[in-house]
Amino acid sequence: MLSNREWLRPWEATNPHGPTSFDFKAQIRSLLRALENNDGIPFVILYKDEIVGQLNVANILHGSVSSCVAGYWIAPEVAGLGITPTAVALAMDYMFKVVGLHRVEIDIRPENEASIRVVEKLGLRYEGLKENYIHINNDWRDHYVFALTSDEVSSGVLNRWLRNEIPKIKYSFRK
Ligand SMILES: CC(C)(COP(=O)(O)OP(=O)(O)OC[C@H]1O[C@@H](n2cnc3c(N)ncnc32)[C@H](O)[C@@H]1OP(=O)(O)O)[C@@H](O)C(=O)NCCC(=O)NCCS
Repeated sequence: MLSNREWLRPWEATNPHGPTSFDFKAQIRSLLRALENNDGIPFVILYKDEIVGQLNVANILHGSVSSCVAGYWIAPEVAGLGITPTAVALAMDYMFKVVGLHRVEIDIRPENEASIRVVEKLGLRYEGLKENYIHINNDWRDHYVFALTSDEVSSGVLNRWLRNEIPKIKYSFRK
C-alpha cells in the first residue's frame, strides 16, 4: 500500500495542522476509532483474494440526517477494471439496506476525471461545488459533491448498474 503513495498523493486528505508525511499506523488507529464510535466503517477492496484498495465510509450521522460520506482508492496495477464502481455499489447497498442510512455522499476534486467516471457509471446525482472544502495534498481544494438517497435506488445500486438501468444524467459541469 505504501508503494502507492505517488499514485494517491494528489487525491489524499492531509491534516492542515499535522505532519505532512503519511502515518499509516495513525490512519489505521483513526479508522478503528471511528468504527468503535459508530461513525465510520473501513472496508478493504479484494480482487482475486488480494487486497487491492480501500473504501472508507466516514462522517456517519444517524437519526434525522442518516447520512455518510464515502472515499476510495485502488492500486494502479488493477485500475480500469471496474473494481471501484463495483465496490462503491456494494458499499452503498450495505449502507442503505444493512446500516439503514438514507443518503451516501461522495466528494471529488474537479481534476479527478477517473473518480468522476466512477460516480457517473453508478448514476450519482451531482449536487454542486463546495469551494476550498477538503485539505488535500497540502492545500484546501474545491470538490464536486455527488450523492444518492435510498429512495432513488430501491432496486439497489449494484442491481441498477448491472441491469443497465442508470438514468441518463447530463452533468452540468460537463461541456
Ligand atoms: C479513481 C479510482 C478509484 C478509479 O478506480 P477504478 O477501479 O480504476 O475505476 P474504473 O475501472 O471504473 O475506471 C474509472 C476511470 O479510470 C480511468 N482509467 C482506466 N484505466 C486506467 C489506468 N490504468 N490508470 C488510471 N486511470 C485509468 C478511465 O477514465 C476510467 O473510466 P472509463 O472506464 O470510462 O474509461 C482510481 O483511479 C484511483 O484509485 N485513483 C487514485 C485515488 C483516487 O483518486 N481516489 C478517489 C478520490 S475521490
